[in-house]
Amino acid sequence: MPDPLVEADGPIPVDAGHLRKVLAGILEALGTGTADAATVAELLVEADLRGVDSHGTHLMGLYVSRLRAGHINPTARPRILDDQGSTLLLDGGLGFGQIAGLEAARLLIERSAEHGVAVVAVRESTHLGALAAYTERVARAGRICLCFQNGPTIVPPYGGITQMFSTNPLSYAVPAGEEPPVVYDVATTAVAGNKLLLAKKRGDTRIPDGWANDVRGVPTTDPEAASVHHLQWFGGHKGYGLALLVELLGGVLAGSSFGRTEHTASPAHGRDRVAKGFVFIAVDPARFMPLPEFTARVDTLVRDLRSGETAEGVDRILVPGQLEHERRRVREESGIPLPAALRAETNAHAAELGVPGLD
Ligand SMILES: NC(=O)c1ccc[n+]([C@@H]2O[C@H](COP(=O)([O-])OP(=O)(O)OC[C@H]3O[C@@H](n4cnc5c(N)ncnc54)[C@H](O)[C@@H]3O)[C@@H](O)[C@H]2O)c1
Repeated sequence: MPDPLVEADGPIPVDAGHLRKVLAGILEALGTGTADAATVAELLVEADLRGVDSHGTHLMGLYVSRLRAGHINPTARPRILDDQGSTLLLDGGLGFGQIAGLEAARLLIERSAEHGVAVVAVRESTHLGALAAYTERVARAGRICLCFQNGPTIVPPYGGITQMFSTNPLSYAVPAGEEPPVVYDVATTAVAGNKLLLAKKRGDTRIPDGWANDVRGVPTTDPEAASVHHLQWFGGHKGYGLALLVELLGGVLAGSSFGRTEHTASPAHGRDRVAKGFVFIAVDPARFMPLPEFTARVDTLVRDLRSGETAEGVDRILVPGQLEHERRRVREESGIPLPAALRAETNAHAAELGVPGLD
């Protein structure tokens, strides 16, 4: 099946295995241990495979600059600060979010088996990447999983103009039986800041209603007036309310930085803050009914949703996670279509560090 995101004359696809090795080589050259470099590279390439290109190889530029600036500690391991069985508090030591995130997911699976529910909070970590990487893994182990992550102050609260939150993503994943798990994974802003920057770069004359405000907090469709630090929340006050939940869990409850309050050993603050907090929650459905019965019921719901009548002009009804599962199958076979600029950027990092690049 052709990749629907790739035009016939688009970039030459890169094999996922090759890309993993190149990214891991760059991370290793910057002081990351071999196993951790492979893990971070694996999760970035997984996002590319799932079609979440904003959170794949594209993030390497950010990570390389943070590693060089000493803002990510490439050798930090998450440390347990408190363990009460069904609840755990970890310190990420400003290491890679991917390493702390996978450890949190591992503990969550273990403890929710023992207690039926488990909550793992992580403070002083850094960027998790795409949250589905963690929630989907927990769902594939048979648990319902939720994840909330906060970050730097780049978006004002609904109705305000003072930056307080990050784009505060949240994700949930639910195991199914014969169907793939349901995986929902979104930022709580209407659009990623990168999409607005891209529209400006392209010289678009108009952006869609509901993307961003100007610096006075007034909604605008003029890309030049729209500010990347005044993004709108999805669903207005409703998205803002969810972003606040993310801040209350990932920031306040985890004992991490929140809003304008900084609790971090990192020298990077405000909009540049790298310190993030996250909270993972898992529920074992087997505490409510036998797992096969639960997953069969999820399959039924998923199939009912997909087989409902479509609205005029709509080809098919999707279930969260479906597009990404489908794209992964295609890209595992046909490769990842890295844009030429990203390919060149990746090769430049590799060349500077004296490690193999993509070509
Ligand atoms: N770590 C961070 O700091 C951070 C911050 C912001 C976003 N992110 C990540 O960015 C990624 C993209 O976020 P986004 O807000 O741009 O997501 P998005 O708006 O592209 O929405 C993606 C979600 O919507 C589902 N979906 C898409 N079309 C659908 C349809 N027609 N019917 C049903 N479901 C559908 C997808 O399966 C997926 O779960 C996520 O992986 C998120 O974790 C991370």
